[in-house]
Amino acid sequence: MKKLRFIVTAALFAWAGPSLAQNYPNKPITLIVPFAAGGPSDSIGRLIGRSMSETLGQQIVIENVAGAGGAAGAARVAKAPADGYTLLIHHVALSAGASLYKNPGYDTVTAFEPVGLVNYGPFVLISKKDLPSQNLKDLLARLRTEGPKTNVAHAGVGSGSHLCGLMLGQALGTSFNYVPYRGTGPALNDVVGGQVDLLCDQTTNALPQIQAATVKPFGVTSLQPIPQLPNLPTVASEIPGFDLSVWHGVYAPKGTPKETIERLNAALQKALADAEIQRRFTDLGTLLFPAGQRSPAALQAKLESEVKHWAAVAKAAGVEPQ
Ligand code: MLT
Repeated sequence: MKKLRFIVTAALFAWAGPSLAQNYPNKPITLIVPFAAGGPSDSIGRLIGRSMSETLGQQIVIENVAGAGGAAGAARVAKAPADGYTLLIHHVALSAGASLYKNPGYDTVTAFEPVGLVNYGPFVLISKKDLPSQNLKDLLARLRTEGPKTNVAHAGVGSGSHLCGLMLGQALGTSFNYVPYRGTGPALNDVVGGQVDLLCDQTTNALPQIQAATVKPFGVTSLQPIPQLPNLPTVASEIPGFDLSVWHGVYAPKGTPKETIERLNAALQKALADAEIQRRFTDLGTLLFPAGQRSPAALQAKLESEVKHWAAVAKAAGVEPQ
């Protein structure tokens, strides 16, 4: 009798698993952005979230869970039920954080089911308008002597803007007076307002302010200039090899059913194939991963190789995880 009950229960579970995934989604999905509203990750999340929600027939609600350079939001998703109703959009900081935090609350490589890669692009070094330096060369010379007196905004330890500041300080043999924010949305507001001197921000956030001339741009962190800022030099023109790119991906908690991941990946791919979304990404100075690199496996491979890359960078720089 006991054996029969076991067989029936097991059969019911086996039946319920796929059918729950087949009915997916039947309620709103939360997409956690691990930084403040109004910043680059928030804009990317909202852009793809709108299109994905049309495809999936359910609302995608953005929730900003900022803190610890993105690790707080990632930890929330790692611990959420693996049912496809809590997702994460995160960037390069997810991989770098593995070497900067002793215990971010999850194992970076194994805590998530990858959904797909989204975009990649450079940072741009900007300052408040009345900073005396007129060009990149001037600015770097000034930072070499006045680094510790310069207020550099960032989005928390391990965030993209923080990694950029650390790389710059290391290349110039100096350090800065770091001013942490919950995201570069609010950090950029303070650069515009003149409360902080410098910020290394993603083009997706900084371009509109550069175009409105409310901040001063100095250089992009890609090895080549970008078409949206054709006259702006690369930081590498003064610091050979300086190369930093941000890349975003979408994740679900580990154990999310395969069928659910496939549906999410298909909705993401559809969003990235949309001509209007592509135009928005181009306008913001960021590139989409080519169609052949938008699979869950491609994101997992990218995450693992970047975790290794940042571990080597942290080791070479003598950075101790905190
Ligand atoms: C944000 O959305 O605020 C960013 O992605 C911050 C950063 O990593 O610099």
